[in-house]
Amino acid sequence: MPDDSTQHAATPPPDAVIVLAAGAGTRMRSTTPKVLHAIGGRTLLGHAVAAARGLDPAHLIVVVGHGREAVGPHVTDVDPDAVVVVQEEQHGTGHAVQVALEAIPAADDGQPKTVVVTYADVPLLETATLADLVADHSRSGSAATVLTADVADPTGYGRVLRDPTDPHQIAAIVEHRDATPEQLAVTEINSGIYAFDEAVLRDALGRITRDNDQGELYLTDVVALVRADGRRTGVVALTDPWQTEGVNDRIQLAALGRELNDRVLRSWMRDGVTVVDPASTWVDVTVVLEPDVTLLPGTQLHGSTSVAAGAVIGPDSSLRDCRIGPGATVIRSHAVEAELQEQASCGPFCYLRPGAVIGPRARAGAFVEVKASFLGAGSKVPHLTYVGDAQLGEGVNVGASSVFVNYDGARKHRTVIGDHARVGSDTMLVAPVTVGAGAYTAAGSVITQDVPPGAMAVARSRQRNVEGWVDRRRAGTTSASAASQAREQAAASTEEAGEPSIGQTGQPAVPGPAGADEGT
Ligand code: UD1
Ligand code: CA
Repeated sequence: MPDDSTQHAATPPPDAVIVLAAGAGTRMRSTTPKVLHAIGGRTLLGHAVAAARGLDPAHLIVVVGHGREAVGPHVTDVDPDAVVVVQEEQHGTGHAVQVALEAIPAADDGQPKTVVVTYADVPLLETATLADLVADHSRSGSAATVLTADVADPTGYGRVLRDPTDPHQIAAIVEHRDATPEQLAVTEINSGIYAFDEAVLRDALGRITRDNDQGELYLTDVVALVRADGRRTGVVALTDPWQTEGVNDRIQLAALGRELNDRVLRSWMRDGVTVVDPASTWVDVTVVLEPDVTLLPGTQLHGSTSVAAGAVIGPDSSLRDCRIGPGATVIRSHAVEAELQEQASCGPFCYLRPGAVIGPRARAGAFVEVKASFLGAGSKVPHLTYVGDAQLGEGVNVGASSVFVNYDGARKHRTVIGDHARVGSDTMLVAPVTVGAGAYTAAGSVITQDVPPGAMAVARSRQRNVEGWVDRRRAGTTSASAASQAREQAAASTEEAGEPSIGQTGQPAVPGPAGADEGT
C-alpha cells in the first residue's frame, strides 16, 4: 500500500515508541507465535513496527517474551534498528513498559520527552493515527493521552471513565473484569495505545500496584495516577475502530486480513488501478502497481511484485516477487521470482519459476514451465513445453511438447538457441547444447549435438510402414474393417479419377520441421 512509513504532518518525533509483544496468544492455537502470523504479506509484528517506525522515534523498542526465540530475530529482520527487550515473566502491561524503559536513558535535560506505547497485535493501526495522537498530546500539554474508540460491543476491553469535572480528560481506565455494572455500560474503550510524558510515566510506573483481579501491573493505572496528581490526561477518540482492533484468534486474523486487503485495493483503485472483483483479489502491502494496471478476478499479488502500466493480470493468477512490464499479460498462471518484459505474455496455465525472464513481446503459452531462462524479443514457446536453464535469442519458435533436458541426474546444463531458430515439435534438447541462429530441428528429434546456423537437425529413426499388418495380426477388429473400407473407397475414387492410390509411396527424403503451430 502506498504511504505507510512516511511521517505524517510536522509532528516532532517522539523519543521512544514501545511495541508490546510479550503475550502468549494462546487462542491462535498455533506453534507459531501470534505476532508472527501474517496478513497482507506482512506479520502482525511487521505491521506494528512499520507504523511505529513511521513516527521516526529516537528509540523503537519491542518487548518480547513468549516465543522470543522466533519473535526477537524477526524484529531485527523487519527493522534492524529496533531494540529488542526481553520481559522474562509477563506481569502485565505496566510491567512490560517498565522493562522497556530500562533500555533507554532517562530524560535528564529537563526537556519533556514523549513515549508512545502500542501493541504488536494491532495490524491496521496507521502511522498517521499515531502522529495525530502525538500531535494532540504535545499541543494539549498532557502528561498522558489515550487513543480511545466507541464500539458497539465493549466486552473484554478496559472502559474509559471521563473526568466529571472536565470531560475532555480521563479520570481512570477500569478493566472489564474489575468494572462495576455501571462502568460496564460505558462503550468508550481503551485501545491500549498511548502517548506519555516520559518522566511522568517513569514516576507513575514506580507507584502502580497489583491490586486488581489479575494481580498484574496495569499500565492503565498510570492514567488515573497522573490525573490524581492534577496533571492533564488527554483523549484522542478514533472514528475508525478497525485501527485499534487486535488479533486474538484466527477468525479475527481473517477479518482483519480482509479489511486490510480492502483498504489496499481501494488505495490502488484511487491511484488508477482497475480491480474488477475486489472480493477475490489479494494484494500484499508490499506490492507496487502503476496506473492502468488491470487485475482480473482471482488475482493474488505477493511480496515485492511490481506491475507496470497497461499490464493485465488474471483471471486466477498468483505472482510472488515478480516484475511485470508495461502492457504485459498474465492469464491463469503461477509465477515466482519471474519477469515479463514489455508486452510479454504468459498462460493460460503457465508456471514461471525463479529466473524466468520473458522478453519483450515474447510468449510462454499454455502448459509451459520456464525456469532460469531468457526468452528473447518476440520468441514464442506456445504449448506444453519445459524450458530450463536456457537462453533463447529473438524470434525463436519452439514447437509443442518440447523439453529442454537440463538435468543429467547430477548437474544442470544450459541450452542456447540462436535468433530465429525453429525448434520442431517434441524436440528433446539435451543440454549442454546449442542450436545456431536460423537453424531448424525436425519434429521428434533428440538433439544431443550442436546444430550449426541454418542447418536442419534430424535426430530420429526413419519411418517404415509394414503393409497389411492389421489384416494379418488384428483380423476381425474394428481397425481391420476400417482399413479395408478405406482401401475400397480409395480404389473406387482412383477408378473414377484415373490417379494412383495414396499412401503407397513412403516418406519424403527430408522430414519437415513441423512445429505444431509455428506461426502463432
Ligand atoms: C489491555 C488494556 C485494556 C485495553 C486492551 C486493548 C491493560 C491492563 N489493559 O487489556 O484496557 O482495553 O488492552 O486491547 O493494559 N503484554 C506484554 N507483557 C505483559 C502483558 C501484556 O507484552 O506482561 C502485551 C501483550 O502481548 C499484548 C498487549 O500487551 O500485545 C496487551 O496485553 P493483554 O493482556 O492482551 O491486555 P488486555 O487484557 O487485552
Ligand atoms: Ca488483548
